[in-house]
Amino acid sequence: MDRSKISTLLFLIVALTFLAAVSAVRDLPGDYLRLPSDASRFFHEPENDDNVQGTRWAILLAGSNGYWNYRHQADVCHAYQILRKGGLKEENIIVFMYDDIAFDIENPRPGVIINKPDGGDVYAGVPKDYTGDDVNVDNFYAALLGNKSALTGGSGKVVDSGPNDHIFVYYTDHGGPGVLGMPVGPYLYASDLNEVLKKKHASGSYKSLVFYLEACESGSIFEGLLPENINIYATTASNADESSWGTYCPGEYPPPPPEYSTCLGDLYSVAWMEDSDIHNLRTESLHQQYKVVKDRTINGVYYGSHVMEYGDVGLSNNHLFIYLGTNPANDNISFVDESSLTLRSPSAAVNQRDADLIHFWDKFRKAPEGSARKNEAEKQVLEAMSHRKHVDNSVELIGKLLFGIEKGPELFNTVRPAGLPLVDNWDCLKTMVRTFETHCGSLSQYGMKHMRSFANICNAGIQNEQMAEASAQACSNIPANPWSSLHRGFSA
Ligand SMILES: *[C@@H]1O[C@H](CO)[C@@H](O)[C@H](O)[C@H]1NC(C)=O
Ligand SMILES: *[C@@H]1O[C@H](CO)[C@@H](O)[C@H](O)[C@H]1NC(C)=O
Repeated sequence: MDRSKISTLLFLIVALTFLAAVSAVRDLPGDYLRLPSDASRFFHEPENDDNVQGTRWAILLAGSNGYWNYRHQADVCHAYQILRKGGLKEENIIVFMYDDIAFDIENPRPGVIINKPDGGDVYAGVPKDYTGDDVNVDNFYAALLGNKSALTGGSGKVVDSGPNDHIFVYYTDHGGPGVLGMPVGPYLYASDLNEVLKKKHASGSYKSLVFYLEACESGSIFEGLLPENINIYATTASNADESSWGTYCPGEYPPPPPEYSTCLGDLYSVAWMEDSDIHNLRTESLHQQYKVVKDRTINGVYYGSHVMEYGDVGLSNNHLFIYLGTNPANDNISFVDESSLTLRSPSAAVNQRDADLIHFWDKFRKAPEGSARKNEAEKQVLEAMSHRKHVDNSVELIGKLLFGIEKGPELFNTVRPAGLPLVDNWDCLKTMVRTFETHCGSLSQYGMKHMRSFANICNAGIQNEQMAEASAQACSNIPANPWSSLHRGFSA
């Protein structure tokens, strides 16, 4: 194939993935169908801000690595700056980020990370508590539980909180039904996270905890799992069965500066952070922010997702100040409900799962004809596409082998009613993932989208031996593709 044909092909691939994502969003039922927590809203007296006792703690976690995932670490750095300006101490903020972005060879401004097109550096001063392979599920749980002896590597900082303390957790990354990504090793499984949260509550070491979560299908992390009576309030970028979105991406409006071939932020994340940047957080409640973020993240007809809330929704009467502090420079800028006043023109956005393709494509497009860089970008996009195809085809074939040509795809796509967790037996889900990967190779970042299929295999009562047989039939070998390689470990 000559260059121009490859260009056209790549462009078509990217365009088609967009269209698929767009139509997936449009097919969703109205979000009123998916608000289980509304029914259970019960009244809380907001805490009196002047009497906030105890300490504010935070854990900030970016679950990805790789320059094409620039935005997740940019989000976390930005969140750190908000909390510091809000008055939290460095010793009370625990940062998990792979830390491969600021000095990546692709970064046009070495040592600098920005989170919006005209934004300043958010990287300076961010502590390196857990970086590289220390960004993993076990360290995250250990830090949250305050269990130093369970840590491996890192700064040793943990949430050493007491009964009057307030905890804020913010996590941004790729995800899939029931799972969140980590740069290495196994995914985070929703059931484990909710058990850890219950354990933290049982230890009596917080007054209330707020969890902000950005990932695809992030609603599935709490749906049917997070109790309403453990003083935890969570909001998620999307409901249990849709993507979340990157923003400030190449080719979109507003675009990143031209020298950036990557998305700078994520839609839900920049919505809560840009709102927190400019207001006196003593006068804005979590609920008010939830509404602003929801309006901005639904975005328009073609892009966007349904921001959800879970757990103890009554806690959202509290002011943000209790968790994030407030920047004294904003003291005179009280929150007013602007959503009815300013009709924000929808910004364009890119489905989380396609942001890597956008990066490779933009790199390919800008590289000089015949350069090594152009070849590299082309290889990257083709590898990503071939991994996608392999995973999609293998999963589809396994479904047909287990349930029949028609029934397989239908059963795999079945979404359980709101209020029910993704799967009843989470150990079964992990076993199915392991069995698949043993025969077919790593699911990687992209393959997380198939978690619902594995969950539905468990929900249908299929035994692991049947799954092993189907996987062996579907995949005769593991493709020699960096994305399929298991050298970074199993996902379960
Ligand atoms: C802390 O972690 C260690 C090692 O995983 C474990 O043995 C211990 O029970 C944990 N402590 C608490 C209080 O959970
Ligand atoms: C807020 O307004 C008061 C009264 O006008 C003024 O004294 C104060 O400097 C202002 N604070 C900020 C941060 O602008």
